[in-house]
This record gives sequence, C-alpha cells and structure tokens, in this order.
Amino acid sequence: MNRWKSYVKWTGISVGSVAALFVVAVYALQYRTYEAPYPQIVASNDSVVIARGRHLVYGPAHCNFCHGSWDELPRIMAGETIDLKGGNAFTLPFGIIRTPNITSDRETGIGAFSDGEIARSLRFGVDREGHALFDFMPFHNVSDEDLTAIVSYLRTLPPVKNAVERRDINFAGKAVNAFLIRPVGPDGTPPATVPPDSTAAYGKYLAHSVANCVGCHTDRDMKTGAFIGKPFAGGLEMGSDLVPGLMFTTPNITPDEATGKMALWDEESFILRFRAGSLEEGTVMPWGAYGNMSDLELKALYRYLKTVTPVRNEVKQIVWRKEG
Ligand code: HEC
Ligand code: HEC
Repeated sequence: MNRWKSYVKWTGISVGSVAALFVVAVYALQYRTYEAPYPQIVASNDSVVIARGRHLVYGPAHCNFCHGSWDELPRIMAGETIDLKGGNAFTLPFGIIRTPNITSDRETGIGAFSDGEIARSLRFGVDREGHALFDFMPFHNVSDEDLTAIVSYLRTLPPVKNAVERRDINFAGKAVNAFLIRPVGPDGTPPATVPPDSTAAYGKYLAHSVANCVGCHTDRDMKTGAFIGKPFAGGLEMGSDLVPGLMFTTPNITPDEATGKMALWDEESFILRFRAGSLEEGTVMPWGAYGNMSDLELKALYRYLKTVTPVRNEVKQIVWRKEG
C-alpha cells in the first residue's frame, strides 16, 4: 500500500517535473536562433530593376495582398499601389500572426535592415535576429535577379510609421513555435535568373516560386504546412481572414476534364478571368495582384497548368461557412 502510494507520489512528481521542463523548454526555445547565409543581393538604383521589382511586388508575388492594410481592401482587390505598412492579422488555431510593416520607416518598418537581411528573410525564412519566420512567404526559390529587383523596389518605398505587434500566440502556439517551426529555405541553389517569356517553363517558375498557385491549390496539412494532396488538385480548406467564419475550399486547377475548374477554358478565357478580378467576396485568392500580371505571364501560367498531371478530384463546396 505504502509502496503504491509512494509510486504514485514519485511518478506524480516526475510527470510534474517533465511538464515543468516542457514549459521551460517551450519558453526558452522561443528565442532559438538559426544560422542562414545572407544572399549576395545588393539593391540597385537602376530604374529597370526597380520597375521589375515593383511589378513583382504588386503583381505575381502579391506582397500587397498581405502587407497592404486590409483597411484598404477594395484598393488591394483592384490591384492599386498602396502603402505596405502591414498590420493584417492571420488567425491560426494557436494564435495570431500579423504582417510587418515593410516600408522604409527605420523604427517600425524595414528601413534599418540591410539588403542581405531582407533577402535572407525571403529566401531562408530567418528574420533579422535569426529567428524562424512562420512560412507564409513562398519565395525561397525566387531567382537572384528577381530577389534583387524586389529588394531594390522595397528600398524606394517612402517610410510610413505603423508599429505592428507581430505575434499574439497562446501556449500551444509557443510549443509549435519551439518544436515544429523551422526556417524553410530553397530546394538547392536558386537560379541566378529566369528570363520572363510565355513558355510553360516560365509558367512553372511563376506557379511554384513566385505566385504560389501550388501552395493554395494543393491540399496540405494546415498544422505543418506539408503537402498531402496531388499538385494543383485543390481541396485545401482555408478560412478567410477577411470575412469571419467564411471558408473556401480551393478548386482543382489540373486539366482533368471532369473535375478541373479550368480544364475547358482556352488561353483567352483564362486571361479574361484574371482580368475580371475577384468574383467572391472575402476570397483569399489575391486576384487584384494577379490582375496586374502581363498577358505574357498569364499565357505562361496557362501553358504550364495545361502540362500538369490531370487529377480527378471533385471539389464540391468552394465557398461555405464553418458550423458552430
Ligand atoms: C501570404 C501572405 C504574405 C505574402 C504574400 C507576403 N508576406 Fe511578407 N510576411 C508575411 C507574414 C505573416 C510575415 C511575418 C511572419 C512571422 O512573423 O513569422 C511576413 C514577414 C515579412 C518580412 C520579414 C520582416 C522581419 O521583420 O523580419 C519581410 C521583409 C517581408 N515579409 C516581405 C515581403 C515581400 C517583399 C513580399 C512579396 C515578395 C511578401 N512579404 C509577401 C506574410 C506575407
Ligand atoms: C492564397 C490562396 C490562393 C492562391 C495563392 C491562389 N489561389 Fe486560385 N483560388 C483560391 C480560392 C480560395 C479560390 C476559390 C474562390 C475564388 O474563386 O476566388 C480560387 C479560385 C481559382 C480559380 C477558379 C476561378 C473561377 O472563376 O472559378 C482559378 C482558375 C485559380 N484559382 C487559379 C489560380 C492560379 C493560376 C494561381 C496562381 C497565379 C492561384 N489560383 C493562386 C485560392 C488561391
């Protein structure tokens, strides 16, 4: 009897101390830092390079959708050039992550960051202090040339003061941050340059490395971000951070004739669809930015999407509301 009691007592204490250690580890690991190289990116003053960067930021790379304030959502959805002052909240199961101010304000924006620090956060997912960024930004494989263009354009943004409280995460979120979040980097060495043209090869670069079509139109495990579905077959359920309670399931955009949303569209209707912009209120697809893509880019995307493996996957409800 006594022995049993002390067993309970000792296991109780040891379970308790493991739990306490866990709590300590979770808090300690919030400040874990990672090593990642600074890409050899130097901002340029060349107007052609800056114009390319501007096009990427408000076009295929859709930085404006997340870093432009959602107080100005209609302008974002119209693809207009607005300040990238951040502050938008993404609500995850474990808390809230807000987008930083990426204007050149030195205190509240990225004006005091070096070119290498900005480039490293985009390519290697490691912030200025060395902490892992949550993997919202799919630009790890962007070419050196395009990364240079993006950083060069960011350097020209006038400073806007807007202090953002970046993270508001609960204990579960801190545990996720401590044990599951690792910086995400490129697959191998990113290309030096990928010259824009209307080929499927360029479309592939856009769909995977710049515009992130693959990231939303493929089913994923939302806890880890891991891809679990066939590429472009849709089926990812996403909450709209723009309209509370509104949910979207991404359509299948493979060329499967029975279930592929755009299987029967020709190149011209694909381009017209992108020129028409958002048709669903609260949609999470950045139609405004994509509408700024050139015909050449849209052709390339269309041609690439025609080459992906057709997958039979019927997505019944594209727009719905979460019960309860
Ligand atoms: C899908 C939304 C989304 C898109 C698109 C996006 N960002 Fe971000 N960005 C975020 C979030 C969220 C964070 C903060 C992540 C965190 O705190 O872990 C962030 C962080 C950053 C940082 C890090 C700042 C710091 O303090 O270290 C920079 C720089 C940045 N973004 C620039 C860009 C640029 C440039 C683009 C376009 C090429 C872009 N972002 C596109 C959501 C986005
Ligand atoms: C942030 C997530 C996200 C990204 C990134 C994204 N999509 Fe979507 N897409 C959606 C959602 C959600 C819908 C359904 C709601 C809607 O039509 O707006 C959708 C709808 C579509 C449709 C169907 C439109 C219609 O008229 O029914 C096509 C085609 C499409 N996306 C293609 C693309 C392509 C090509 C890219 C990359 C350039 C892309 N998407 C990037 C989330 C995304």
